Formats: sequence, structure tokens, C-alpha cells
Amino acid sequence: MSDIRCIGIATGGGDAPGLNAVIRAATKAAILKHGWKVIGIPDGFDGLIWPEKSFELTLKEVSGILPRGGTILGTTNRGDPFHYKKVVHGKEVLRDISAQVIANAAKLGIDAIISIGGDGSQKIAYELFKKGMKIVGVPKTIDNDLSATQVTFGFDTALHTVTDAIDKIHTTAASHHRVMVVEVMGRDCGWIALEAGIAGGAHVILIPEIPFTIEHVCRHIAEREKVGKDFTIIVVAEGVRTPPELKENRRASSIGNLLGNAIARGSGKDVRVSVLGHIQRGGTPSPFDRILATRFGVAAVDLIAAGGFGMMVALHGDTIVSVDVAHAIGHLKSVNPNGEIVRTARAVGIGFGD
Ligand code: F6P
Repeated sequence: MSDIRCIGIATGGGDAPGLNAVIRAATKAAILKHGWKVIGIPDGFDGLIWPEKSFELTLKEVSGILPRGGTILGTTNRGDPFHYKKVVHGKEVLRDISAQVIANAAKLGIDAIISIGGDGSQKIAYELFKKGMKIVGVPKTIDNDLSATQVTFGFDTALHTVTDAIDKIHTTAASHHRVMVVEVMGRDCGWIALEAGIAGGAHVILIPEIPFTIEHVCRHIAEREKVGKDFTIIVVAEGVRTPPELKENRRASSIGNLLGNAIARGSGKDVRVSVLGHIQRGGTPSPFDRILATRFGVAAVDLIAAGGFGMMVALHGDTIVSVDVAHAIGHLKSVNPNGEIVRTARAVGIGFGD
């Protein structure tokens, strides 16, 4: 028999479609399956600095949120109770307020917390766990770059958004005989660029895992021209390594704009750039993301009931499993430059600028 009576739920890091589906599933399972009380902690662990801002999540509170993007709890990708920024005598100092956060959770009657977040949030959760907080993790990021789980929710929705954008860009690129550069998210890994690029029929895909040169990108454009293809779509992940000739300018502009200018100079073609930005993180979650998020939410509650603290739920094959957060954090799942999916892309003529 578990001694849990009340759990807290917090969402940390950048938002992702499906967060609300996790909150709903975990709340429902906690109440209906276990008879627990559920408390929503606003804005990640920062919410525990001001316990009075937390509020009860009831069945009514989570009703209707399944298809909603974002998170009803709010989030932040700056909060860290171990390095909390405070202004003292006009100067910014970092304070460790983790003890206060743990004490406030206890004051709220919270026995265990579900921390829904990416690598950064799980690192914080793990540090709090080491200090005695009972925590289980749910992985999240639209970038799909956590090695502990095969897929994170939010990624599939982002792929739909980006593929739809590339489809739309296709028609205008073809009509104007232009080169179109589409910059997508992917701070460390190129999954969104690679998979949406393939799905959207991009001609060149530039990702952090494969170094490229402007010369090779321009050569690809020229080769297409030779066979009568007078437009080219280039999908670039925001986290690509800057080619040496552009290094100095990287800070001044988005990588998409920098590349667009360099490709215009190198190819002599008319180039336009679309930086998709945060629309990739918004919108209603796809059915796949809703289902995965629901499975994660229920599994996280079951993990608490089983006493699996310091663990995180994950998808391995068709199965939801739990992994040790200590082993899960800090390991990126990069695109394998020689893997099957890159080889498939090359086989259908997609260039990687290398
Ligand atoms: O980690 C997910 C992500 O979408 C990255 O691809 C991107 O660099 C980052 O979030 C942007 O976050 P924000 O603008 O919220 O700081």
C-alpha cells in the first residue's frame, strides 16, 4: 500500500503540444485510480517559491484541456531553485533556495511530484530528488533529442506544423523559381529538420550533426538547375554549426537569414527565408502526441504508486517503461549521419551540404 495522499504536477522548460494531455491524464488517474489529491504547481519549480499560487487540480479543472496546446500550469525555462537569481543591493546574485522549495512542497501537503520537462528540468528534478523530494519525471521536448526515450510528445505535432509550412512554401518557391530557406527548431539535434524535410520534399537539409559548406549547398542548387529544376527548398535546423565563412556574423542574425544571404551571393539566385520559430511549439497536439502524453501521464502516476522515485517514464518500442533519471539526463539523442534515415534521404536526392 502506498502512503501517498497528494501529488503535485509541474511543467518546466519550453512548452510542447501534449503538456496539457499529460496533466489531464495524471490528474484523472491520480483521482480516479488512487483517490489522491492533485496540486498544480505554476511555472515549474519556481511555483514552489510562492506556495500560495499553487492550486488544486480537480476533474473539472482538467476537463477540456486534452486538445489544448501550451500548459495550463505555465512554465519557464529560466527557473532553477539551485541557482535562483535575486537582486541584492542592485546586483544580481545566485542563491540556492532548494531547501525552501522542498519545505514549501511539504507545507502544501504534497507527498510526491510529477516533473514534466526536458533535460534541464529533469536535472533540477534529480537534484531535488537527491535532497529527499519524491519525484518522478515525464520527458518532454519538441526537439525529440532525449536519448532515454524513443520519442517525446510534441515532436509529432511539430513535424505536422513544419511539413505543412514546407508544403506551402513549395508552391510559392516553384512559382517564383526561387531558393527558399526554412529555418526550424532543433537547438542541438536535427530531428525536426530531417524528418519534416523528408516529409515535405525538401531538396537540402542542414542539421547540426552534419557539417556543411555554402559551396556544396550552391552546387546542389546548380545541379538541380541543370536538370530543369529551377527552385530549391532548404530546411535548416537552428542549431547547425556555422560554416567558417559565416562565423563572425552568427550572433547578428538568425542562421536562416545568414545562410539565405550567403546562398544568394553564392548561387546568384533569388532567395527568401522563412524562420518558423515558436509556431512549431504551439497548436493542438496531434492524435499521436495526445495518446503518448496520456500514456506518460498515467504511467507517471503508477510509478509514484509503485514508489519509483528518481525514475522517469519513457517509450521503448511499443512499451512505456521507467528509466533512472540519473542515467537519462545529459545524453542527447543525435541524428546518426550514417544512419538509415539519412541514407534514405540521400537516396531520394536530398543533399546535406557536405
Ligand atoms: O528545446 C526546445 C526548443 O524548442 C529549442 O529547439 C529552441 O532552441 C528553444 O526551445 C527555444 O526556446 P525559448 O525561445 O522558449 O527560449
